[in-house]
Amino acid sequence: ATSERYAVRRLPFARLGDSDVAFFERVMPGRVVTGEEEVKPFNVDWLKSVRGCSQLVLKPQTTAEVSQVLRYCYEKNLAVTPQGGNTGLVGGSVPVFDEIILSTALMNRVISFDKVSGILVCQAGCVLERLSEYLEEQGFIMPLDLGAKGSCHIGGNMATNAGGLRLLRYGSLRGTVLGLEVVLADGSAVDCLASLRKDNTGYDLKQLFIGSEGTLGVITAVSILCPQKPKAVNVAFLGCQSFAKVLETFTTCRAMLGEILSAYEFMDEKCMELVERHLKLSSPVAGSPFYVLIETSGSNSAHDEEKLNNFLEQATASGLVTDGTVATDDKKIKALWSLRERITEALTHEGYVYKYDISLPVGRLYDLVTDMRARLGQSAKRVVGYGHLGDGNLHLNITAESYSHSLLDAIEPFVYEWTARCSGSISAEHGLGFKKKQFIQYSKPSEAVALMQRFKAMLDPKGILNPYKTLPSAPESSTR
Ligand code: FAD
Ligand code: MLT
Ligand code: ZN
Repeated sequence: ATSERYAVRRLPFARLGDSDVAFFERVMPGRVVTGEEEVKPFNVDWLKSVRGCSQLVLKPQTTAEVSQVLRYCYEKNLAVTPQGGNTGLVGGSVPVFDEIILSTALMNRVISFDKVSGILVCQAGCVLERLSEYLEEQGFIMPLDLGAKGSCHIGGNMATNAGGLRLLRYGSLRGTVLGLEVVLADGSAVDCLASLRKDNTGYDLKQLFIGSEGTLGVITAVSILCPQKPKAVNVAFLGCQSFAKVLETFTTCRAMLGEILSAYEFMDEKCMELVERHLKLSSPVAGSPFYVLIETSGSNSAHDEEKLNNFLEQATASGLVTDGTVATDDKKIKALWSLRERITEALTHEGYVYKYDISLPVGRLYDLVTDMRARLGQSAKRVVGYGHLGDGNLHLNITAESYSHSLLDAIEPFVYEWTARCSGSISAEHGLGFKKKQFIQYSKPSEAVALMQRFKAMLDPKGILNPYKTLPSAPESSTR
């Protein structure tokens, strides 16, 4: 069997038999999903751009059950795809062929929360938004937030090293995650679920699993440091007349807002058209080629408002921003955030979406959008740019009525070559998954890829965990 678009060959894993299903039924009675219709939603990714043909979804509730499943699969040479909320954007969360889907949907228990240290320990299948709600009741927040919060699982966030909307303030998961519990391919469980801010005993193994996209182990539980809930939050949504002004507004606001700045996001006018047209959202700020969303979070509303107002006065007086609005109440804050957060959803209404998630020197961020627009001309429906400007992360998205090989050839490898010339990264936060793994060399030297392959071979010698993902396949089987 060969996947048509990518021409990947199925590796010689065993095929699922009745006795395997019977074994899993004994391990987790009633939590074994079979039947084409029932399994279908787990076989298709959020973007509906890749599709597997698994016949089995397993829903363990405990680490011991995950261990039993993997020990068995390892012995029998059955391939497994770990799946959280299935919101991943690079085709990593669904099988390529008939891999068994190991879903964390029922591993959704909070294990502990310490209000003094702010350390949360929970199972991997907790939905991010549920964790946020749980913490907010106790005066804390999660250190990460993303548009997929209502569906994505914290284990999936770890496995992709998700960035999102709060990274500018609270940093990457590589800093806020204190510990992980992981089950390896052979079924052995590794408990590194430390709840300590400081721990220098040996190598930091959890880092290997953060961002490993289900290829090195199944994350079963997480320990994470959570910040205090800010007492005052403000959002300013502003219009800028050029990308140069977006950049200058960033440097000005960083200087004037200092420690209270918690997000700096941008979107171009084409993104605004999309959320207005497809989602019927209305923006109080209109008529600008670029928009920025600035969030402040602090502990003293009078102090924060004074700082924000000073900044806005200066930005307006110097012509950096030409229009804008400020929100202090929850409802308006949410409405302004929706304009930015829901671009991903709006794009899917356009037809097929070619998604690129690029890290670049911030000054060059929008040049890639402009160059791509000029290159593609009428062959694309839209070429749009938005993203986490404060983190140097551009989301370049290209839409067309339907998938076309010739359009893909016009975009790739151009987009990756362009990025490599600027010493950027071809995946800032979404990972490589199935769609981008063959392009890793644009951002990593061959020695680094070879070392990654050695880690993979050591931790998963039979290669049963999320095969065909993240690392490039051998040249003879990658005829794309
Ligand atoms: P899945 O999609 O189920 O899986 C993703 C990968 O992780 C797969 O390779 C899977 O095999 C692996 N995996 C899942 N769970 C485990 C586990 N327990 N153990 C081992 N491997 C596992 N991403 C960002 O970084 N920033 C954003 O701002 C952002 N915004 C988004 C907005 C929208 C609307 C959508 C749809 C997606 C967005 N994403 C964003 C991408 C995606 O939501 C994140 O990557 C998220 O972290 C994936 O979590 P998930 O539970 O859905 O994982
Ligand atoms: C975002 O920042 O909105 C997400 O990463 C999703 C996307 O890139 O569309
Ligand atoms: Zn993003």
